[in-house]
Amino acid sequence: MFNLILFGPPGSGKGTQSEKIVKTYRLEHISTGDLLRDEVSRKTPLGVEAKKYMDQGLLVPDEVVIGMISSKIDEKHGARGFIFDGFPRTRAQAEALDKLLEFKDTQIHIVLSLEVPEEHLKKRLIGRGETSGRTDDNEMVITERIKEYHAKTSSVAAHYAAHNKLERVKGDGTIDDTFKLLSKQIDKYLLPA
Ligand code: AP5
Ligand code: MG
Repeated sequence: MFNLILFGPPGSGKGTQSEKIVKTYRLEHISTGDLLRDEVSRKTPLGVEAKKYMDQGLLVPDEVVIGMISSKIDEKHGARGFIFDGFPRTRAQAEALDKLLEFKDTQIHIVLSLEVPEEHLKKRLIGRGETSGRTDDNEMVITERIKEYHAKTSSVAAHYAAHNKLERVKGDGTIDDTFKLLSKQIDKYLLPA
């Protein structure tokens, strides 16, 4: 099994690159943002609770997200590996993920961190907001999401750097340029399927 975390601030290209990685390497994509938006659109109790945070650009509480991830990993039993997108976003989530994977006799092999200057992030997200229908793609909430990233998420990188698992990848080129840089790292572990 090969497990990868695609890390980076809002708008750094995690979703865009995950789609390409999934196609090339046949990994299972787990995006907590997508999972939460699905709960919100079905108006489940979890979704109703999560929406209160998401609409303000705040992180959803750890226990909600960790529970969701755990059942998703179980569902995809027998997968070639996972790509985690938008998770973990706090130290507590990172520690929970390490334990969950250890329990399944596996681990995170690499964390690829997309590095993109802040002014690009905002421009990209405001652009996406024109068509995405995402209620958090407006300037005020985008600013909050980036703030929340600096306050709670960016330090997750240090957790993996301490285990020599962090690779920083330049994410401000074209989508294809970035994919090439990511592939170079993944190819060290896994051949395209
Ligand atoms: P989430 O859905 O994870 O959103 P995010 O982290 O804010 O990131 P985005 O999805 O906005 O950006 P992305 O990096 O995927 O970029 P994308 O590829 O789309 O989380 C949403 C909310 O859910 C959170 O605020 C929180 O409330 C909650 N949540 C989720 N996970 C959680 C967790 N683990 N714990 C607690 N709460 C959680 O690209 C963005 C745009 O840029 C697109 O339009 C794209 O076409 C464009 N683009 C991409 N690459 C390029 C490029 N190279 N050049 C030009 N444009 C590009
Ligand atoms: Mg995304």
